[in-house]
Formats: sequence, C-alpha cells, structure tokens
Amino acid sequence: MPNNLLIEGPEQGVQVFTLNRPEALNALNTELLANLSRALDDAEANPDVRAVVITGSQKAFAAGADINEMAARNLVGILEDPRVAHWERIARFTKPLIAAVNGFALGGGCELAMHADILIAGENARFGQPEINLGIMPGAGGTQRLARKVGESLAMRMALTGEPIDARRALDAGLVSEICQPELTVEKATGIARTIARKAPIAVRLTKESVRKASDMSLADGLRFERHAFTILAGTADRQEGLDAFLEKRKPQFTGR
Ligand code: CAA
Repeated sequence: MPNNLLIEGPEQGVQVFTLNRPEALNALNTELLANLSRALDDAEANPDVRAVVITGSQKAFAAGADINEMAARNLVGILEDPRVAHWERIARFTKPLIAAVNGFALGGGCELAMHADILIAGENARFGQPEINLGIMPGAGGTQRLARKVGESLAMRMALTGEPIDARRALDAGLVSEICQPELTVEKATGIARTIARKAPIAVRLTKESVRKASDMSLADGLRFERHAFTILAGTADRQEGLDAFLEKRKPQFTGR
C-alpha cells in the first residue's frame, strides 16, 4: 500500500490510520481515499481490530478534496467520480471510528472528520466548509452531516461564508467531544478506542448503529430499531458473560460471540 496512508497496529484492538500527504496538507485525492477505503475493508474483516483511530498531521487533518484533481473533472467526471464509492465505504464502516484532528479540517477534511463516531480536536483545529470560495459546494456530507451535528444556523454560516470555526466553537457546537493539546489528540483518541476495544464487539456494533439512527430516523422508528437491537443482543454469549461476570464480581472475557 503506498505510504499516503500509514497504518499502525492493531495493538490492544486498535489500528491507527495516519493521512500522509504533507505536500498537499493531506488533500484527499482518489488514491488516498481508495487506500482508506481498502484499509477499512481490511479492518472490518480483521477480528483483532475493534476500533480505528484516524488522524493527520499537526498542521492539517485534511485540507479538503484535492483541488488539482477536481479541476480536471468535468460534469461527467464528477458524475462518475470513483470517490463517491469510497465515501460510502467510510460511512458504512461498522466498527468505531475515532478522529484525532489537528490543524485544518476543511471541505472534504471536515466531511471526513464528521464520518467519525467520536471526534477529538487539538486546540489548533479549524473546521470549515470553504467550497463556496471555489464556486462549488460541499459534496460529501458537508451540508447534511454538518447541519445535523451543529444545527442549521451555524451550518449555514459555515457553508455560505466559507469561514472556519475553531476548536472551542466546535466543542460548544457539539461537533467534537473534547479538545486537548495538539500533541495529545492521538493518545487521547487511542485511549478511548482501547476502552471501546475491551467491550463486547456485537454490543459495540449495534450501539454504534443505533446511535447513528438518531440522526436519520424519526424518534419512534429509532426507538423501535433500538429495541430490536437490544433484543438481538439477548442471543449473544457476550451478554451472558457480561451479566455473569458482574454477578460473580470478576472482569468479563468477551469473545465477540
Ligand atoms: N487540494 C490540493 N492541494 C492543496 C489543498 C487542496 N485542497 N490544500 C492545500 N493544498 C496544497 C497547496 O496548493 C500547497 O501546495 P504548493 O506548496 O505546491 O503550492 C500546499 O498544499 C500547502 O498549502 P498552502 O501553501 O496554501 O498552505 P497555507 O498554510 O498558506 O494555507 C490553507 C492552508 C488555508 C488550508 C490553504 O491551503 C487552503 O485554503 N486550501 C484549500 C482548502 C479548501 O478550499 N478545501 C476545500 C476543497 S473542495 C472539497 O473539499 C469538496 C468536497 O466537499 C469533497
């Protein structure tokens, strides 16, 4: 795999993916997205991977779609853009994805960060949808996910002015779950990922799916989905193990069954 995506682990159930195109502030070209997509396929299939952390550099998580590549595409090129399938693959990932964001998370970079289930930001992080400055608009969830995460008014402001928000504002708006010193984001995200990696995998998977439904289903449908998922867990060995371990005052040994 070319080194525009560095992959470490799994260690204690966690793989760390590092976007590595420093010459273009980690702009997401097709090759990088394809590598990310493949790496997620591998992580999905590997039972030793229980969670994935995705990060960039101290200067940039990712400064958006690759503008050189985009400039070379006409309408048909955009219509048949292979990156669409890669974005769908990222959205479909069933294991927890935690983003450790430092510096610029702009355009597709902000959209990638929003695909994460938990977002940790360095104090120097800047989140924005500057596509409007290029005469275009967000195309990988920057109007839909952003509005659901920060509310319509702030999403409108960001997408229509192109002006980014800083980490503190992103925290207040609910886009990120916590902020810390930039040097500590990966450690923080990895710590959270390791905590999750020790839980029962099927319960983790169904919890992720169920929380996700909250933003694209009515409350009644979401509650029904949650109830079904809760019921499915009754058939798992890990549920029995979790309950037995509590009653026997010992640590559970989850097997993913
Ligand atoms: N695509 C391709 N190359 C990019 C890039 C991008 N999105 N962002 C930065 N780069 C390149 C620059 O061209 C520059 O390359 P050279 O050294 O060869 O000139 C290098 O990365 C460093 O960038 P700067 O010199 O511009 O760094 P800076 O610190 O002065 O500014 C910045 C940083 C404000 C992030 C600025 O680079 C910038 O505005 N980048 C573009 C951000 C943007 O508009 N993103 C949205 C893209 S469209 C999109 O993402 C669509 C979608 O929804 C999927």
